[in-house]
Amino acid sequence: MNTPKHVAIIMDGNGRWGIENRKSRNLGHKEGLKTVEKIIKLSIKNNIKFLTLYAFSTENWKRPNFEIKFLLSLLESFLKEKIDELNNNGIKLKIIGELKRFPKKIQINLKKAQKKTYKNKKLELILALNYGSKSELVNAIKLIKKKNISINERSVDNSLYTKGIPNPDILIRTGNTNRLSNFLLWQLSYSEIFFVKKMWPDFNERDYKNIIEKFKKIKRNFGNI
Ligand code: FPP
Repeated sequence: MNTPKHVAIIMDGNGRWGIENRKSRNLGHKEGLKTVEKIIKLSIKNNIKFLTLYAFSTENWKRPNFEIKFLLSLLESFLKEKIDELNNNGIKLKIIGELKRFPKKIQINLKKAQKKTYKNKKLELILALNYGSKSELVNAIKLIKKKNISINERSVDNSLYTKGIPNPDILIRTGNTNRLSNFLLWQLSYSEIFFVKKMWPDFNERDYKNIIEKFKKIKRNFGNI
């Protein structure tokens, strides 16, 4: 039986949920953050060691300014209000993505939060922020060229933001959309993918548990028979 170590999630559907239930996309994001907090706890409960959440993509900058500002304010308050709790629960925070485009204050707080939780071992919470897989791969190739080392799978692995992190066993995408949206394209090569119809704010413990149980029963061949 497989036990998943790393779960990656594309948390899609906040906007639609918000319009449908609160007449506001931003209130959908606010509700989505509650699901984030639940899923972190449930990941620990299910002995998941790495949880990667796609919180802001390189493409999300195209959204209206008030939505971008709101998402950044949610991130800021999450860092401010939750970092001690994460730390006390043994959670290590790691950011993947290009942080330079974020306001200086957020960059500093993200660095502080990573430093504070660096030694924690219970769960590694990886937040993908201003993350795009193609740009991650281009950066990796540039790094390899700069170091003048040979190009092989190992050197690419070691040049990605996710260096040292095992590839996701499971990818979940909520929001009734079946695509990868420039997320971990290299790292998801052999992941089991679960597309869920529900919007992210409605994703619950039973949905998560069902996916983990289904995963446990899958025969994973990795190209073998
Ligand atoms: C996709 O839904 C979701 C996002 C772009 C943002 C995800 C953010 C959160 C869950 C809250 C903040 C999280 C942290 C960790 C601080 P969408 O807006 O594309 O939904 P739609 O497809 O219905 O428009």
